[in-house]
Amino acid sequence: MRGLQVDALNPSILKVQYAVRGELAIKAEEYRERLKEANHGLPFDKVISSNIGNPQQKGLDQAPITFNRQVAALMEWPALAELAPNAFPKDIIARAKELQHEIGSLGAYSHSQGVPFIRQNVAKFIEKRDGYPSNPNHIFLTGGASAGVSLLISTLISSPKSGILIPIPQYPLYTATLASFSGVPIPYHLDEVSEWATSPRDIDGALQKALDDGIEPKALVIINPGNPTGALLDEATMEHVVRLCEQHNLVLLADEVYQANLHRPTTHPFTSFKKIVRQLNSRVPLVSFHSISKGVTGECGRRGGYFECANIRDDVLALLYKMVSVGLCPPLSGQVGVDCMVRPPKEGEESYALWKKETDATHAVLAARTKLMAERLNQLPGVSCVDSAGALYLYPKLTIPDQAAAAALAAGKQPDEFYALQLLDETGICVVPGSGFGQKDGEAHYRLTCLCPGVEEYVGALEAFHLGFMKRYGGL
Ligand SMILES: Cc1ncc(COP(=O)(O)O)c(C=O)c1O
Repeated sequence: MRGLQVDALNPSILKVQYAVRGELAIKAEEYRERLKEANHGLPFDKVISSNIGNPQQKGLDQAPITFNRQVAALMEWPALAELAPNAFPKDIIARAKELQHEIGSLGAYSHSQGVPFIRQNVAKFIEKRDGYPSNPNHIFLTGGASAGVSLLISTLISSPKSGILIPIPQYPLYTATLASFSGVPIPYHLDEVSEWATSPRDIDGALQKALDDGIEPKALVIINPGNPTGALLDEATMEHVVRLCEQHNLVLLADEVYQANLHRPTTHPFTSFKKIVRQLNSRVPLVSFHSISKGVTGECGRRGGYFECANIRDDVLALLYKMVSVGLCPPLSGQVGVDCMVRPPKEGEESYALWKKETDATHAVLAARTKLMAERLNQLPGVSCVDSAGALYLYPKLTIPDQAAAAALAAGKQPDEFYALQLLDETGICVVPGSGFGQKDGEAHYRLTCLCPGVEEYVGALEAFHLGFMKRYGGL
C-alpha cells in the first residue's frame, strides 16, 4: 500500500504559504510547551505572541466585552435568565429573548446566508455608518472574514491566468487563498515614505504589467485600515481607486475588518468603500468584508463576520448563495457575535455604561500603546517605523548590517527571518518577518502587534535584543 503521498496531492495546496502561523509561530509553540518544564533552560519565562492579531489569546489577555459575553451566555443556555436573574441587566435578558425568538436554538443550522434578523441589523448598521441604503439580501454572514474572502476568490478565479491585485505588504490570507485556487497575485506596492499610502498610479502600473504578461485581472483587494501597515485611505484616493476599477472592469474587494480600530479618528477617520461607491453613483461591483475578530471585540475564536455585496448581479448573488449553502451555515455563535457588534447597547439601556467604559478603555490602550511603541522603535539605530493610524500592528523597517545579512544567507534565511528567529530565541517574543507579507527586494521589516500588555517590559526586551543584535553583527 502506497498510503497518502504528498506528491500525489493537489499541487496548488502545496504552494500555499501563511507566514502568520509559519516557522516562527511553530517554534514559539514549542517554546511554550518547554516552559512548562522546571528546567527548561530558556532565557525567558514566557512566550509573547506578537505574530497574530488575536487579542484574547493567552498572554495578551484583552478582556472580552461583558455585553457580548452576557448575550452569548444567555443564547447558549437560555435557562440562565431564570437561574441567575440578577447576573444580567434587563436589556440583555430582553435582547436574548428576542434573538432566541428569531433564531431558536444555537444548535440548529440557520439560513445559509445567516439569520435574516441579524442580516437586517447588519444592514441598519451599514446604513447608519454610510448614509446609504443596504439590502439584507445582499449581506452574507460568514465564519470570520476569511471564509468570505475565500469564497469570493474561489468564485472569481476562472482560469490559471486569472489575477487579483493585492497590496504589498499584504495580509497573507490573500496570497495563500490565491495559491490554493491557482490564481495569480498581481502585486502593487504601498508607499512607506508616504506612511504606506495607496497610489492609484502604482495600481495602474501593476495592472498594465499584468496585462502585458497575459494575466486577466479580475479584482482589486484593498485593506483599509491596512494590515500590516495600519494606514488609512483618504477619500480622494478611494475615489481614484473606484474609477480605476470602473475603467478596468474590476471587482473591488474591500477588506474593512479594522474599521473600528482607529487610533487618531479626528485626523484619520474611516470611510467605507460602500459610501464612496454610492457617493460617486458608481456601478463598480463591490464586496466589503467585516469581522468580529478585530475592533475592540476581539472575538476571533467565535468565527463571525459578514460581507456586503453592492452592484452585484442577481445571478451572481444566486451563485454565491449556492456555494454558501454547500457549507450549510456560518457558526451560530459567530452570528450572535455579529449582532452584538452591529447593535451595541443604546444610551439609556442598563448595559450601556459598562459597554462604553470597556470599549473606550480598550480603544485608548491600543492607541497609547501603538504610539509609544512607534516612538521607542524609532529611537533605535537601524529602525524606522511609521506610526500606524489604525488596525493592531506596527511594521518597522530594519537596516540589517552586512555581517548579519551574510550570516542569514549562510543559514539559508531571509535577513528579517534571521532577525526574528533570534528575537524569539532570546526574548520569547514572536513576530512575523516582512518576507511573509511581501516587501521590495533588499528590504527587511517585521510586523508586531500592539496587543501586548506590560508595554515597558515588552518594548524594553525588544530594545535590548535589537542593540545586542546590532552590536553582534557590526551594526553599531
Ligand atoms: C486584513 C485582514 N482580513 C481578514 C482577516 C481575517 O479575519 P477573520 O478572523 O474574521 O477571519 C484578518 C485577520 O487577521 C485580517 O488581518
